[in-house]
Amino acid sequence: MSTTHPLGIDVGGTGIKGAPVDLRTGEFAADRLRIDTPKESTPDAVADVIEKIVDHFKDLVGEQPIGVTLPSVVTHGVVRSAANIDQSWIGTNVEELLQGRLGRPATVLNDADAAGVGELRFGAARNTEGLVLVSTLGTGIGSALLNKGQLVPNSELGHLEIDGHDAESKASSAAKDREELSWEDWAARLQRYYSHVEDLLWPDLIVVGGGVSKKADKFLPLLHLRAPIVAAQLRNAAGIVGAAYEAVESAKAEGTHRE
Ligand code: BGC
Repeated sequence: MSTTHPLGIDVGGTGIKGAPVDLRTGEFAADRLRIDTPKESTPDAVADVIEKIVDHFKDLVGEQPIGVTLPSVVTHGVVRSAANIDQSWIGTNVEELLQGRLGRPATVLNDADAAGVGELRFGAARNTEGLVLVSTLGTGIGSALLNKGQLVPNSELGHLEIDGHDAESKASSAAKDREELSWEDWAARLQRYYSHVEDLLWPDLIVVGGGVSKKADKFLPLLHLRAPIVAAQLRNAAGIVGAAYEAVESAKAEGTHRE
């Protein structure tokens, strides 16, 4: 019998990306497939795309579990917030929706939480004891809190109110692009943001992810914080890897996982 792998799928504002993940190494077991996010990104339209991705990888995935990330608060499979996606997601039980569509269970979690788990298991947060904050800079600001190797889900630190503003509206990488900020000006906003977060939580390490982390050398050296602040190592793969990892953990917890 050939080896099968769990599938991770990352639902973003512009693209839905999936790949089977080899959890022995944290690497993709096949090239990633990306499909544009439908213009009207309702739960049904996104579920259609997820079905296509699952179908594309069906031989490599076999009966292995599926993990899906969303840019939302997700509790017990139900979406609770929709800052940068269609409002019709709120209240949707995505785990039930996908179970109905795919005929098999799927684990659904917040995108930054998934990236945090990826970095914790295979990336920049691997060897840190204590509290790690993984912060993703993109359209919004995502956050994952990992304490002694355990995820504390849905921390949503991108929406802290700072100086009268929703933090992500001023400090996300979308805000940098929108306002055409220089690296220095954006770094000043990040400094304000991360020092505030640091005063609240005292993390031992801050890991910065999101697409812009490819250019970490342009802005991380401008930041001065108590904790070390480093770039994510898995980059945009972190969400897919973390989702696949969490899917296997859920299957193990439910006693349905087969190696
Ligand atoms: C959402 C979070 C998400 C982050 C990154 C924020 O606007 O509230 O749930 O993790 O964007 O996508």
